Amino acid sequence: MRQTKLVVIGVGHVGSQVLTDCSHLNLFSDIALIDVQQNVAKGEALDHRHALAASYRTNSKIYAGDYADCADADVIIISAGVSEKPRPGEDMPPRALMGKENAAEIRKVMHGITQHTKDAVLILITNPVDTITYIAENEFHYPKGKIFGTGTTLDTFRYRQIVAGHYGVDPKEVSGFIVGEHGSTAFPAFSSTTVGGLTLPQCEELLPQAEPFDAAFVQQEVVHTASDVFNWKGWTNSGIGEVAAALARAVMLNEKSIFPVTATVDGLYNCNGEAAFSMPCIIGRNGLEKQIELPLNAEEYEKLQLSIKDIQNTLQY
Ligand code: 2OP
Repeated sequence: MRQTKLVVIGVGHVGSQVLTDCSHLNLFSDIALIDVQQNVAKGEALDHRHALAASYRTNSKIYAGDYADCADADVIIISAGVSEKPRPGEDMPPRALMGKENAAEIRKVMHGITQHTKDAVLILITNPVDTITYIAENEFHYPKGKIFGTGTTLDTFRYRQIVAGHYGVDPKEVSGFIVGEHGSTAFPAFSSTTVGGLTLPQCEELLPQAEPFDAAFVQQEVVHTASDVFNWKGWTNSGIGEVAAALARAVMLNEKSIFPVTATVDGLYNCNGEAAFSMPCIIGRNGLEKQIELPLNAEEYEKLQLSIKDIQNTLQY
């Protein structure tokens, strides 16, 4: 099997979890870590080599590297940047608050990467991820499709879990997406959500529950549940780590899976490249291979306009 290589840039709480989950895929012969704190990269690499030995998984080479390691990378996952700290008694601070610092950070990271490659598939996690992805894609002319952000993929799995919990079924039976901004204006496309093939109105008839399905509560709960994780443990990393690994697997195995990742939108939803936001996308070996203009009803379309405006407010950085 030819060498396959992942580069993880930024190995804080999120990057470390990304490394754990991606090393468990057994899809990368080489994993290079880049962090401004070189010792953190060296320590995470050594710790994860020990973990691989203990788990009898493939003997991937995991090491602290530098931007030259991007030259032959298949996938590069970026979680570099600052993150907010919980403020007792307050909701999670808007992800946009990190916009200024992380916009500067992503420009440094993209400069480093593009000195060596414009062929690797880049998966961005750094928040505010829509804005960060827009900057990285457009200011560095990275090939369309070869770069996308995790967007509302994690929100979507949270949403599916909440809907499944309401109807008492496995989350795998829920098909539906959170679209728009990865932030407070993210919203469920209720009109295209199904549970075991049943639309939500049909569920209310065929899977009746003690309480009726409360759409407004569910939309708020999807956004709020991230806050709970953030305020209770101080950060979020387990969910996003698995999301990054699922996206990396979809690329490496050319799965043609559909995930709501974020990328610049041009020619869909009456947008002409003015923002990046999430909608269902086909993910395969070439990265984001197709953005799908999910049909939205009038209310959902209005929510999307709000979401785009909110993202554009952080595009000033
Ligand atoms: C999350 O949604 C904070 O963006 C991170 O878990």
